[in-house]
Amino acid sequence: MKITIGSDHGAVQLKEEVKMVLKEYGDIEVTDVGTFGTESVDYPDVAEKICADVVSGKSDRGIALCGTGIGISIACNKIKGIRCALCGDVYSAKMSRQHNNANVLAMGGRVTGFGPAGEIVRAWVETEFEGGRHERRVNKIMALEQN
Ligand code: RB5
Repeated sequence: MKITIGSDHGAVQLKEEVKMVLKEYGDIEVTDVGTFGTESVDYPDVAEKICADVVSGKSDRGIALCGTGIGISIACNKIKGIRCALCGDVYSAKMSRQHNNANVLAMGGRVTGFGPAGEIVRAWVETEFEGGRHERRVNKIMALEQN
């Protein structure tokens, strides 16, 4: 699996922690689009880079991080083809894959601790979309992009 990850200055440390978790898998290729320091950057710019990789197919999925996860998840969900789920618990992370086929996971570096974030990432990476009735609903979500 290929994953593009990015954060603003509010989640640089969490980004490093998540990359370490992803390394455990051995078969996950990670592209890091930054940011890499504490200098303030605008999360919509980071969202755009992550989602460009997902929409183009360069990556299968994205992980988007900012201070709360809120701003970057809102920005990601403005991009056609993206279903970004802001998750602060393992159950939501699993459901975002099983029911919503989320292709981007968002978390908040100032909200979610490293331990829980690692569990959320593992659940999200390992859970497949269930399809069936959920496919119809996801198709309806995607149709809203035409409005
Ligand atoms: C940046 O200070 C902060 O606003 C950002 O990381 C995020 O929390 C926005 O939703």
